[in-house]
Amino acid sequence: MSKIQTLRGMNDIHPKQVKEWSYVEEVIKSVVESYGYEEIRFPVVEKTELYTRSNEAADIVTKEMYTFSDKSGESISLRPEGTAGCVRAAIDNDLLRTDKPRLWYSGPMFRYERPQKGRSRQFHQFSAEVFGLSSPEIDAELIMISARLWKKLGIFEGLRLEINNLGDEQTRKSYSKALVDFLTKFSKELDEEAIRKLTENPLRILDSKSPAIQEILKGAPLIEDFTNQDSKNYQANLLEILDEMGIGYKVNPRLVRGLDYYNQTVFEWKTDLLGSQDTLLGGGRYDDLVEELGGKPCPAIGFSIGLERLILLLNQEDKIKLETNLDIYFICFSESTAQEAIICAEKLKDKIPSLSIKTNLGLESASSQFKKADKSGAKIALLIGEEELKDKKITFKDLRSNSDQETLTFEDLVEKINKIKN
Ligand code: HAM
Repeated sequence: MSKIQTLRGMNDIHPKQVKEWSYVEEVIKSVVESYGYEEIRFPVVEKTELYTRSNEAADIVTKEMYTFSDKSGESISLRPEGTAGCVRAAIDNDLLRTDKPRLWYSGPMFRYERPQKGRSRQFHQFSAEVFGLSSPEIDAELIMISARLWKKLGIFEGLRLEINNLGDEQTRKSYSKALVDFLTKFSKELDEEAIRKLTENPLRILDSKSPAIQEILKGAPLIEDFTNQDSKNYQANLLEILDEMGIGYKVNPRLVRGLDYYNQTVFEWKTDLLGSQDTLLGGGRYDDLVEELGGKPCPAIGFSIGLERLILLLNQEDKIKLETNLDIYFICFSESTAQEAIICAEKLKDKIPSLSIKTNLGLESASSQFKKADKSGAKIALLIGEEELKDKKITFKDLRSNSDQETLTFEDLVEKINKIKN
């Protein structure tokens, strides 16, 4: 144990895990870029008001945000999610005036929640956001991207897509009122959390995990009774495309999502295989947010994938197969052979720039180094011992075949490796 440990809920990602993360991030990136999405980067820390304006009553803002004063006394916050920052960056960089950008970003988010399996205080999202498009085809595209992603990553079991339509502002207002009227009749049976939400954000009571509240909700009004015909048509068009593409879904009239900015379509991909933190991806439409944050009115929609949860699931199901990219493991035994080995490795890279070479400089025994060479996944082991040093040669061993080792001059070695590489 080090003297100073990480903060609770903030985790290191060690080298083997980084390989898994890079693999997953690469797959997601390749899928979203194959649909024409472009990467955007924006700060991890922003003015607190960016999040309070976009998510006034959401739990992540009222209870979970890491908020500090900087040295000038300004209130700043670590980003609890990326959509608000992405919108701000799109406005400030004038990306919305002439184009309808489809963007992606990836990185850490921070929420002061109670850590548990699949939930941490620093976690990572991979997100896509689309601006300027207001028809259900783009909602369908985002869902199709995610379905393709699961396929590419090899996740087929235990997944379900839930969809809902939250209508427009008027729908949400009248529905909230109806829900409050209904729940007020049960106020004696509601817990403290539900009573707080009743005044702050009544829709959030719908995804309460309490069985007693879920029982009460069975008789509650449904949002679909409050959405107008336009919203119903919108939802029907979206579902038609998903049907056509063979993407299964369940319309869940109680799906509301934790953030305040949503309207119309909201959706989540959940898994049966992870326990209570089961949402892998969440997203939806937020057509009013650009204007709320100072831009010209601009429809928008997006999703975020929780990378910790996705990687947890992939590891649990043994779906991550990493290929090593190391070509050569270089073995040497003493200070003088180490010096020769590191120089030889560098000269090899000059001759064949695509080579990846790891040189063991730990002066360990031959058997320990051969074991490490084998475990490293390298195709070739090279060795310089005292004999080789004297003869100005290098011993070559093909680690993936039973052929005998050979001792070669540098020029012959280059020729041999070139043949193997091509
Ligand atoms: P969200 O539902 O708050 O949405 O988060 C999206 C995903 O991030 C969740 O489904 C989950 O996988 C992961 N996640 C959230 N909190 C944690 C945590 N504490 N630990 C681990 N994973 C977590 C958003 O953030 C929206 N910005 C999504 C969006 C983009 N909507 C439109 N565009």
